[in-house]
Amino acid sequence: MDAEIDSVAVLGAGSMGHGIAEVAALAGYEVRLRDISEDLVQRGYEQIEWSLDKLSEKSQISDGDAAAALSRIEPVVDLEAAASDADVVVEAVPERMEVKREVYAELESVADDDAVFVSNTSSLSIGELAGVTDRPERFCGMHFFNPPVRMELVEVVAGPDTAAGTLDLVAELATSMGKTPVRVHGDTPGFVVNRVLVPLLNEGAWLVHRGEATVAEVDATARFELALPMGAFELADQVGIDVAVHVLEHLHQQLGDAYEPCPLLVEKVDAGALGKKSGEGFYDYDEGVDVPADAARDDVADVLVAVMAAEVAALVDADVADAAAIDRALELGAGFSDGPAAMADDRGLDALVATLDDRREETDAPRYDVPASLRDRAESGGRFHAAAPS
Ligand code: 3HC
Repeated sequence: MDAEIDSVAVLGAGSMGHGIAEVAALAGYEVRLRDISEDLVQRGYEQIEWSLDKLSEKSQISDGDAAAALSRIEPVVDLEAAASDADVVVEAVPERMEVKREVYAELESVADDDAVFVSNTSSLSIGELAGVTDRPERFCGMHFFNPPVRMELVEVVAGPDTAAGTLDLVAELATSMGKTPVRVHGDTPGFVVNRVLVPLLNEGAWLVHRGEATVAEVDATARFELALPMGAFELADQVGIDVAVHVLEHLHQQLGDAYEPCPLLVEKVDAGALGKKSGEGFYDYDEGVDVPADAARDDVADVLVAVMAAEVAALVDADVADAAAIDRALELGAGFSDGPAAMADDRGLDALVATLDDRREETDAPRYDVPASLRDRAESGGRFHAAAPS
């Protein structure tokens, strides 16, 4: 536990909020988990109970640790009761600016003046969020990955006015929770991991939407050709298709048409099929998920890696992170066995640029535009990582 932090309030008991509360309680903090109705907060609490049971069933924690963690979590509805004596308040409420604005206004009236506020937002601007509080210097992003109890990365995102001490404190908090904090500078849309991962999901969806591949082929390719822990559609179901669409909408608005959400994703959201949390998304969770290994396709792998390579190049160009940091973030935040830059190097940047060019010509879609730096690197026989000495 961090010496300066004893108690943590988590606002929002949905898939991320309850997972963050669980992780904080396992690390020894006193946690208040808050949502706007008894029903919602109780549902989150029950999911924590389920998860702690699973972890102890699989001997990842002892029965005693599970019981102790649960006893440290108090589910509450009243915001003042949740936040008035919290050292850190983690906001994980729905990704709508007007909802967050209301929550922060109310929070300011009940929270301790010295408390640090962090947002688990996956898409909104940290600077804009900090601006609706009275404490932009004690505000930053603390972005966990789903499921928080299993994923090792936390992106610590600085807003324009975040104090260095706040970033240190939040990075130490993440470390004390057994996570690896990675600092992200500035308000980079999608930060690092979502900037690579969410376009990957979108591309999988476009391939299916255009009739070029099936869900099974995309997911088998991701799992068995690219050695990702989950297929693109399994992952969309895991994080919530609505969450993926929110991130895409934000990227679309901030960065342009290359990030237009595929209609296949939007249709699922409109139909209320949000993924695991609603019982059905691209898969039906009463039936379970079966991804057939023999459905993997090399041409689909090429497209998926090419799209990720373009994102890596854009992140490097914008000075958000270098290729090594991007690979590490995807390994820790999304369980990749090889990061996207390493995968792109393996496939050959020249082949990937050719794939993007062909598809751009065929579809006219801006998501296949090749960043100039990627083309230069490919033409000069370069790679993202220096080649291992032979
Ligand atoms: N708590 C406890 N147990 C859990 C759990 C949780 N929260 N979630 C799943 N489990 C259980 C399952 O029920 C299953 O139990 P069972 O075997 O009894 O049925 C078991 O864990 C599966 O565990 P395994 O270790 O055997 O499974 P995997 O090796 O497949 O690991 C995984 C599961 C860690 C989720 C892995 O598939 C993975 O790393 N997936 C990638 C997830 C990812 O990319 N996350 C980031 C998404 S992006 C994001 O969140 C950002 C946001 O802003 C969009």
